Amino acid sequence: MVKNKKIFIETYGCQMNFADSEIVASILLAEGFDSTKNISEADIILVNTCSIRENAEQRIRKRLQNLRSLKKKNPGLKIGLLGCMAERLKESLLEEEKSLDIIAGPDSYRDLPRLLQQVETGHQAINTILSSEETYADITPVRYDSYGVSAFISIMRGCENYCAYCVVPYVRGQERSRDVASIISETEDLFNKGYREVTLLGQNVNSYFYKDGNESANFAKLLEKVAKTHPRLRVRFATSHPNDLSDELLETMASHENICRSIHLPVQSGSTSVLAKMNRGYTREQYMDRIEAVRKIIPGCAISTDIIAGFCDETEEDHLQTLSLMEWAGFDYAYMFRYSERPDTLAATLYEDNVPDDTKERRLKEIISLQQKLSYQSNCRDLNARFEVMIEGFSKRSKDQFFGRNSQNKVVVFPKTENNPGDYIMVKIHHVTSATLIGYSD
Ligand code: 5AD
Ligand code: SF4
Repeated sequence: MVKNKKIFIETYGCQMNFADSEIVASILLAEGFDSTKNISEADIILVNTCSIRENAEQRIRKRLQNLRSLKKKNPGLKIGLLGCMAERLKESLLEEEKSLDIIAGPDSYRDLPRLLQQVETGHQAINTILSSEETYADITPVRYDSYGVSAFISIMRGCENYCAYCVVPYVRGQERSRDVASIISETEDLFNKGYREVTLLGQNVNSYFYKDGNESANFAKLLEKVAKTHPRLRVRFATSHPNDLSDELLETMASHENICRSIHLPVQSGSTSVLAKMNRGYTREQYMDRIEAVRKIIPGCAISTDIIAGFCDETEEDHLQTLSLMEWAGFDYAYMFRYSERPDTLAATLYEDNVPDDTKERRLKEIISLQQKLSYQSNCRDLNARFEVMIEGFSKRSKDQFFGRNSQNKVVVFPKTENNPGDYIMVKIHHVTSATLIGYSD
């Protein structure tokens, strides 16, 4: 009855969520559903959601209001909410959002075919049970990269760090690692299909650990195995926690050229007392020690970070410490956020969200403008350099230009050549902005 129905999936949030949407598509296509890229011909719309900040949820709620009007035009249309927001708000969403038919948390995607059957009988359907084991290891995701050169591989799920501000441990459950063999076979399969870049994904990939009989692998071992599948496969990973970024891992990176020279290492704050309140488990000095280790062991490695402005009790002095740490580290790139209190987190329970909005806003602005300067300086250092770039596709601005990335994860734009996406090409940089390197192939 539900077979051949057309599914449209819309994704919000992080790379993990994009990877999850590919798993969802795979589960449903295997059950005989069709997928569509055209929302107006969909029979079922699934919205994969994010709860990380309040404005992420607000955006999704607005979207649900728009989707309600589609239901008026097409009364048979079913709408499902997946992912973190589904997990956080559970049944209450079915009450609040009248347009919703299905609620499915991040560990219940195998149950979607049953949930979809259930709504066909006129009932709402919900599954928000979290699992301590689900890794979707046996599911080969449908790939959404339109050029077929870069793919995400989810290697672990969940998080147990309990950073005070963060909702993730509550919505994604216990940390669990996927088996090595299925990760390697997924990697090989991607390479054979023409993919030339994989990004290993987890909330905290450095704490990856899998044991099977006498064999065990930590993240450094796994990374090495993935890198060894083929020298022409680029390997990236996200996200690293400063506490678990071991020298062993950095040495593994240094000894394999195809492991990209780029590390995303969220610092969150440059002040030791704010870091302690955030429950991050490291001091300013310990973070600096990790940056020094990266610089020493992998010269030329790019470092990006995440920063939160205006966490509970953050003083002007704390804020200045964040700015000075940014300057010292010279981050190549950063994702920067205003603190947003999330219900039921440690911070919401223990501390007052007491930095006034206009102060948060001003501090965030200062952080963003400093980072813009740092990103521009970082790119200026690349003027006249030659980089090996993996071509990812056509630049958004012009069909006469290709875009790709260098090992440091910087976007490089250059005039189109005879090559194809997935090919490697040497590019010399002649111009930079704070966001892009511009060059020509040589
Ligand atoms: N408020 C603001 N930013 C947050 N992040 C996580 N939780 C919050 C929050 N409550 C940021 C952190 C994290 C990134 C994914 O989102 O910087 O590293
Ligand atoms: Fe990803 Fe966290 Fe947002 Fe969930 S809440 S989608 S894990 S960023």
